[in-house]
Amino acid sequence: MPSRAFYTLPSLRLVVAPPASVEADVLVVPVFSEGTSAALPDGLASTVATLRESRDLKGEPFEMHWLGGDGLASPRVLLLGAGAESAASADVARRLGTAAGLAARGRGQSHVAVLAMGALQGEAQVRALAEGLTLAAFHVDAYKTKDRKLGDLESAAIVVSEGPASTLADAVVLGGVLGEATNVARAVAHEPPNVLTPAVLADRAVELFAGTSVSVEVLDEPAIRDRNMGLLLGVAQGSANAPRLIVLTYEPDSSRQSAVGSGQAGPVLALVGKAVTFDTGGISIKPAENMDRMKYDMCGGAAVLGAFHALAKAGGPRKVIGIIPAVENMPSGTAFRPGDVLTGASGLTVEITNTDAEGRLILGDALWYATQLGATHLVDIATLTGACAVALGRVASGLFGTPDAWRDVVRDAGTRGGDFLWSLPMTDEYKDLMKSDIADMVNAAGTRYGGAISAAIFLKAFAGDAAWAHLDIAGTAWADEPKPYQPKGPTGVAVRTLIELARSAGSWV
Ligand code: BES
Ligand code: MN
Ligand code: ZN
Repeated sequence: MPSRAFYTLPSLRLVVAPPASVEADVLVVPVFSEGTSAALPDGLASTVATLRESRDLKGEPFEMHWLGGDGLASPRVLLLGAGAESAASADVARRLGTAAGLAARGRGQSHVAVLAMGALQGEAQVRALAEGLTLAAFHVDAYKTKDRKLGDLESAAIVVSEGPASTLADAVVLGGVLGEATNVARAVAHEPPNVLTPAVLADRAVELFAGTSVSVEVLDEPAIRDRNMGLLLGVAQGSANAPRLIVLTYEPDSSRQSAVGSGQAGPVLALVGKAVTFDTGGISIKPAENMDRMKYDMCGGAAVLGAFHALAKAGGPRKVIGIIPAVENMPSGTAFRPGDVLTGASGLTVEITNTDAEGRLILGDALWYATQLGATHLVDIATLTGACAVALGRVASGLFGTPDAWRDVVRDAGTRGGDFLWSLPMTDEYKDLMKSDIADMVNAAGTRYGGAISAAIFLKAFAGDAAWAHLDIAGTAWADEPKPYQPKGPTGVAVRTLIELARSAGSWV
């Protein structure tokens, strides 16, 4: 089956001009619930005032009201509720951008212009509008051959009335890169598991970074065996689709490197993403209901690909390594079983108590490998536990890490990027959960209680002396309920956190 195009990139531009003169299929005008109404053409200003008076338009977030474009160069206007102007952060702007783009596509309008008024004219907001509009170009129905609901988004203009045009134009370009990085992650996450096997994921990585400053090395099964990665191989052995270990490396050019004074001795960040292209649970098989969802068990690896896409396009100040262990977890005559004891590349032995706790096994070998490649700071990203989704719902991702200062650096990167990360405890008192009578550790605790925490305890054993943080995105990587700014499907969660970390010039811990 051929792979499909999940998005086209809209051509983005900054326009400094009066709104009435902007040519597009639809001019999107944000309407705040409280705050200034920026200069609108007379007719439009009085229509908005009338709608507000009659309470037909309150400016509540994502409220939509369509009008004809009388007297404007654009034939249609979408009044888009934007909430209080004082709350118009970059996060709000991103969502408004996506909502605007999706609404336009819903009406078959492929050229959209968004009026960045009031607080939305800030540099961070303009960047986020561009990002949101790029996110809106994503197709969740790329495999439909007919009856596709949304058209393509071909172009998006961000219209400002004033301001530092060159700074804002740069912000639009960066926003486009960030949005595309997230779409890269969403596109691989959305591929069905028969198409996206571990080998195909590795091929995608090679294609994605050909000719860029990111180098890609793919370890195939014999190469993985050479490195004694018994945990990764144990999970992989039940599948006809052989595993891969994808290793990405980004190194800044020397001018950037000296700019932050980080030579070879500086911190080396490793981003490690779980990529189980399909998780049946193995011999400890999952129930049939919703098992199809387990194609998204590679969203951690997808997020790493997205982050490196941004590094390739926009650069960063330090060396970053990406490691994506890619496997399929299947039950078969060759599958690993509960009761098996596996030996990982680090030498630690693991008693398998549940073959469905496979993510931590492949990450164990991958985290250890990252330390061998010289990483000083690790972040792993994984759809790791149902327990994390139970604990935090579909809103926050679980955050763990040590030392606390590094975990907080990651949390703050999430806040800047617009990912909500909530830290969960991991004190020594929890350690007993992973004790084994016959090996160094079990892979699954004997209790469901604290399931996200026991998984994190397991991972920490493979991080050596490096600073380590872990993001559990099981509850946040896939949207089951559509929102005006997020269609059902892969969310691209954590991509922006990883980009913020990889591109920030902070000294860390
Ligand atoms: N991929 C799953 C976790 C998951 C569950 C992600 C639901 C997204 C939605 C993971 O491999 C898994 O199966 N974890 C088990 C661990 C248990 C056996 C200790 C779980 O969460 O039940
Ligand atoms: Mn599993
Ligand atoms: Zn899994």
